[in-house]
Amino acid sequence: MRWWDMDGVLALEAELFPRDAWSEATYWGELAGARGPGRSRHYVVAETPDGRLVGYGGLGVAGGTGEVMTIGVTGDHQSHGLGGRVLAELLAAAEAFRCHEVLLEVRVDNAPAQRLYRRFGFTRVGLRRGYYQPGNHDALVMRRAPAHANGEGPAEDG
Ligand SMILES: CC(C)(COP(=O)(O)OP(=O)(O)OC[C@H]1O[C@@H](n2cnc3c(N)ncnc32)[C@H](O)[C@@H]1OP(=O)(O)O)[C@@H](O)C(=O)NCCC(=O)NCCS
Repeated sequence: MRWWDMDGVLALEAELFPRDAWSEATYWGELAGARGPGRSRHYVVAETPDGRLVGYGGLGVAGGTGEVMTIGVTGDHQSHGLGGRVLAELLAAAEAFRCHEVLLEVRVDNAPAQRLYRRFGFTRVGLRRGYYQPGNHDALVMRRAPAHANGEGPAEDG
C-alpha cells in the first residue's frame, strides 16, 4: 500500500467498516510507519488486473509481537480466497519481522473473519468487552502461536 492507493483504500474502508472506518489521517500514520529503518508496519493491497483496488491488509509489530491491524476484501470479491492471500502476506511479513506471535481482535459476531483466522491457525485467547466503539461491540482476541509459523491448515479453536 502506497500513497497513491489512498483513494481506493478509503473507499473500501467506507464500504467494509461503515460505522467505524479508519480516517485518512490514521492511514497516513500507518503508512509512515511502513517506511524507513525503524519500520513497524507492513501494508498491502490487492488489485484486479485493470487496477481496481479490491482488498487490503496491514500488520503492525511491537516488541516481537505482530498484530493484524486491518484486513478487508470488497463484497463482490469475497469467498474466492483473496482474504486468505492477504492474510498469508501479512503472516509472511510477521516472519520477516521475526515476530514470535501474531495477535488480532475481531468482533464476536464476525463469523466469516473468525473462520479465516482459524484456518490460519489463530485461536481465541481472550475477550475485550466494548472494544469496538461506537456500538459497544465485544472483541475476541485471537493469537497465532509460533508452532504455526511454518505452515497453515486446519486448527482447533481452543
Ligand atoms: C474477512 C474477509 C477479509 C475474508 O475475505 P475473503 O476474501 O472472503 O476470504 P477467503 O475467500 O479467503 O475465505 C472466505 C471463504 O471463502 C472460501 N473460499 C476461498 N476460496 C474459494 C473458492 N475458490 N471457491 C469457493 N469458496 C472459496 C473459504 O474457504 C472461506 O470459507 P468459510 O468462510 O466457509 O471458511 C472478508 O469477509 C471481509 O473483508 N469482511 C469485511 C471486513 C472484515 O470484517 N474484516 C475483518 C475485521 S477483523
